[in-house]
Amino acid sequence: MTDAGALVLGIETSCDDTAAAVVRSGAEVLSSVVSSQVDLHALYGGVVPELAGRAHLELLTPVIGEALGRAAVRGKDLRAVAATIGPGLIGSLLVGVSEAKALSLAWGVPFAGVNHLEGHLFAALLDHPGIEWPVAVLLVSGGHTLLVSMEGPGRYRLLGQTLDDAAGEAFDKVARFLGLGYPGGPAIERAGAAGDGSAFAFPRPLLGDGLDFSFSGLKTAVVRAVRARPDASDPDVAASFQQAVVDVLVAKALQGAVAVGARGVCLAGGVAANGVLRGAITEGCAELGLPAYLPSMATCTDNAAMIAAAGWWQLEHVGPTPLDAGADPNLRLPLLA
Ligand code: KG4
Ligand code: ZN
Repeated sequence: MTDAGALVLGIETSCDDTAAAVVRSGAEVLSSVVSSQVDLHALYGGVVPELAGRAHLELLTPVIGEALGRAAVRGKDLRAVAATIGPGLIGSLLVGVSEAKALSLAWGVPFAGVNHLEGHLFAALLDHPGIEWPVAVLLVSGGHTLLVSMEGPGRYRLLGQTLDDAAGEAFDKVARFLGLGYPGGPAIERAGAAGDGSAFAFPRPLLGDGLDFSFSGLKTAVVRAVRARPDASDPDVAASFQQAVVDVLVAKALQGAVAVGARGVCLAGGVAANGVLRGAITEGCAELGLPAYLPSMATCTDNAAMIAAAGWWQLEHVGPTPLDAGADPNLRLPLLA
């Protein structure tokens, strides 16, 4: 294997996806395997932490084996093993971190503990290696809603964040209320495709008021509207809710991009899979003459290729993570002073 010194095995187990990937030089994805636990948690309408941890224990070793096999590499060919150390569910994180440390010891290669949020930011680089800095990154997932000015790998300034629910969490809660199933984002998008996004005039929280977000009041507005009009069609409610979220996300992302003189706008995280959001950000960027960097569907949602990419960069620029470093369920994105 040529250039084996740049191969990193990435491991991601922060929530309900068990993932492993092999990436060369932080850029070339040789394999990326994601085993979703969606069916397991769908029975309960959301992620059950104890079940997630146990499922990672069962799935992780075969998923790593498949990632190595598809990439045709052996453990000893690797430059390092990288794993998500936080934020996330502690029981889930520990499975990935323990296995990564054990493999790094067994293969005699360094360990890199990666911040999951930073991983999502690196996902953009896998799809768009030629990005010009700075870019405004809208990171919208089930657990986080952050608007970040990324001045380069490892250089982040926080422009705004949610004051309550994450965008994906709002999708999940509204979908559960409407009985559309789990995960909520894709369910709302499917239902909304047949609805009218202007049927309900839901609030656009904090629109025109800085770069922070708030979604819990919007969720309450949906509940009130449906209780007031029990005959309302689910597709109309779903489409109107989705439109309200997208309007706020896009307006603030573009406002933030202009404020920092960004040379593009980038989406990251599971909600970035949403077609209405993708369309609106593309349109808004075109009006500003800025490129919109959209991740592929596979790089939006949790995966280990983004962890391997971030891990490779970290090893090159910061160094390995000591083996006594633990998982941190509340880890924050490291910001520039
Ligand atoms: O990044 P991710 O896979 O996991 C976390 O780190 O949270 O994001 C999962 C979130 C869930 O809340 C899910 O409902 C949302 O992303 N999501 C979507 C769509 N696909 C996934 N939200 C809106 N539209 C979608 N198509
Ligand atoms: Zn994530």
